[in-house]
Amino acid sequence: MRRKLAAGNWKMNGTTASLSEIEKLLETHPDPACDMLICPPATLISQMAWRCRTKALKIGAQDCHWNASGAHTGDISASMLADAGAMHVILGHSERRTDHGETDAMVAAKTGAAWAAGLVAVVCVGETERQRDLGATLAVVGAQIDSSLPDGATAENTVVAYEPVWAIGTGRTPTLAEIAEVHDFIRATLVGRFGEAAYGIRLLYGGSVKPSNAAEIFKTSNVDGALVGGASLKAADFGAIVDALAAA
Ligand code: PGA
Repeated sequence: MRRKLAAGNWKMNGTTASLSEIEKLLETHPDPACDMLICPPATLISQMAWRCRTKALKIGAQDCHWNASGAHTGDISASMLADAGAMHVILGHSERRTDHGETDAMVAAKTGAAWAAGLVAVVCVGETERQRDLGATLAVVGAQIDSSLPDGATAENTVVAYEPVWAIGTGRTPTLAEIAEVHDFIRATLVGRFGEAAYGIRLLYGGSVKPSNAAEIFKTSNVDGALVGGASLKAADFGAIVDALAAA
């Protein structure tokens, strides 16, 4: 059985004033029937992790460097994130791939660095609208999975998030059949590469998940939770998504 995971990606949003949303989430969801993860900007990780240290909510980061230390001005290593209290790190998000030119090879190197620091890597894949229109979705996602995950992925060190680029922040989502098709394909790809143990790797859907569509998405084949952007910023919305997941 895979334990379900509701993950929030705050992106470049949030200052210390936003810590109250974490307090609210902990108050309303002290012991949820699924895992909860919030990935705030790096500036908030240690304060959030301190608040969550005995609680059901885990804190993660949104990126890391592939080196453990060194002359990389402005970058943060996986071990620094772990030291700050992060337990997970999102890697290969489409905004990083687009804004910072991250390639699959870079994502794979970062994933290895995350594992070495004891972090769970939440590796993101997903097609653009043009790639979907061309009928290339499975080829694109398959290639990203192959090249963004190093050998050695397990249920303990890796979560995969399928996030169609055209669904992120747009209010548009694939049909449930389209989500199922990609998630079943990702599962088969992972099992083909990593063996039976890959049945334990959690697969999240991401892209315009909100309280009103979460329950139906969570009924979909091989969907073990969600990676939520905009709707994770408010405790009430994220809490409603957690409730839908716990009930699924
Ligand atoms: P969204 O973002 O929920 O705002 O669409 C999802 C993501 O980018 O992880």
